[in-house]
Parts: sequence; C-alpha cells; structure tokens
Amino acid sequence: MSAKIIDGKAFAADVRARVAEQVATLKADHGITPGLAVVLVGEDPASQVYVRNKGKQTIEAGMNSYEHKLEDTTPEADLLALVEKLNADPAVHGILVQLPLPDHIDEAKVLATIDPAKDVDGFHISNVGLLATGQKALVPCTPLGCLMMLRDHHGSLSGLNAVVVGRSNIVGKPMAQLLLRDSCTVTIAHSRTKDLAEVCRRADILVAAVGRPQMLSADHVKPGATVIDVGINRIPAPEKGEGKTRLVGDVDFDSASEVAGAITPVPGGVGPMTIACLLANTLTACCRAAG
Ligand code: GUN
Repeated sequence: MSAKIIDGKAFAADVRARVAEQVATLKADHGITPGLAVVLVGEDPASQVYVRNKGKQTIEAGMNSYEHKLEDTTPEADLLALVEKLNADPAVHGILVQLPLPDHIDEAKVLATIDPAKDVDGFHISNVGLLATGQKALVPCTPLGCLMMLRDHHGSLSGLNAVVVGRSNIVGKPMAQLLLRDSCTVTIAHSRTKDLAEVCRRADILVAAVGRPQMLSADHVKPGATVIDVGINRIPAPEKGEGKTRLVGDVDFDSASEVAGAITPVPGGVGPMTIACLLANTLTACCRAAG
C-alpha cells in the first residue's frame, strides 16, 4: 500500500460543520432558515435510505427539511404540480426530486419544471448550460464533492491531465466541465473507448464513474496519480457469510492503491461528500434568493 487515502468522511464532516456555522449566522443576523424539499416517488429501498440520510443531515445543519413521499403510481401531472408548488414556496430554497423516477414519469420534464434557482441537484438544463459556459451555476453535488477533494489534495489543478471514465449527466459530464474550468486537460472515456487502460494511464487525475464494480485496476493507473472512485456497487461477499454483500467502487482498490499517489476508498470516499455538497448548494441557493 503506497497511496494516501483521501478521507471523504472526515472531509464531508468538515464541510457540513462549515455549512452549519453559516446557517446559524444567517439565522441570527437575518432571521432566515434555509429549507430543502426532497421528493421521493415510490419505494426503492436505496432511494429511501438516501432520502432519510438527506433529511437527517439537513436538520443537523440547522436547516428545515421538507419530505414529500408519493406513491409509485402517482400521475406525472401530480408530481409536476407538487414541484410548481415548491417553486412558489418562499420557505423552500432547494428542491431535489430523487432519481430514478418510475417509468411512467418523464424525468426530463420533471427536472425542467424545477426552478433553476432552487435546483440544488444542478440537473436543470439552464444550470447545465451555465456550468458549460463558465457562468455562476448550481453544480451537481457528486462532481462538486470530487472537485473539492481534488483541490484540497493538489492545490491548483491547472495543467494536469484528467481522465473521467463515464459520461453520465449526473457525474461524468459535469465532472469534466468542472475540471476544465480548473484548467485541467480533460478526456472523457467510456464503455466504447479503445485502449481504455492506456488512456487512463495518461491521467494525473483519474475519476471513475462507470457504475461497474472494480472495473479499473492498477493497470489503469499512472504511478503517483490521484484516483477518485465515484462508484458504489454492491457485490456478493460469501466470505462474510451466505447471502452477504459488500460495497465496492468502480476501482479495484487493493491493486490501484499500490500504484496511485492518492485514492478515495469505497465506502468513505466520495459518497459522504454528495450530501455535504447538497447542503452547501442549499445554503448557496438560499443566500442568492436573499440577495
Ligand atoms: N439518485 C442517485 N443520485 C442522485 C442525486 O445525486 N440526485 C438525485 N436527485 N437523485 C439521485
């Protein structure tokens, strides 16, 4: 083991503490309490866990949390009406509609209905465009968390070669935009990329966001590179007993950490940063609304 382990859990606790401090100041000086509304449609167990954690950490940061749980048969029109109601509610500064949505609901339509100024996920096309053109946007939470850890580790990212593996709207594309904004030379690789290992080995910064368990190994890592593993995959763990599972990333941690200079673990790396950045985005949205 040679790599430094980047402790996302500690980093996220720090971010949350700073947000809580600013929330307390906002309350004391201006009588404003930021509010985050989270909408969950259906009963997907993983989504239920995420939503519960979001609500808990929102309250711990001193903000108001509004949870809306809808049946998985909820008509699209009802969900759109709820989003419109939250758009108009001055106590709500951030709106998050948990994804994925049931098949009968048009995800793009729902995201487009959220007021961009309250779009703390940064998924609205207007925030996507603002980010792509280098303007003030609300930025997707997971890539924002990755960027914070990278800046903390490297200081300046200027001129570094960054390879992002994965081209999703939630992580890969916004991650590439953020790295470009910090003057990295950015490559987006994906499932059809030829000679993926060779492309990855050019990276000073390697971000894995493909959603395939342990797909990248030591072979993909340049010696001394910083590896950010966004993957959260559950795989069977017979060594823990019959039917047991464990969480792994998109990177084979054991081999990659022999070569990398720094690496995020799974769990305890990028994961905790996502909710911390959601709280930071809610505070940002609230401050912008208050002028
Ligand atoms: N589902 C998985 N990750 C996310 C996220 O970051 N935001 C939302 N809204 N849904 C998700």
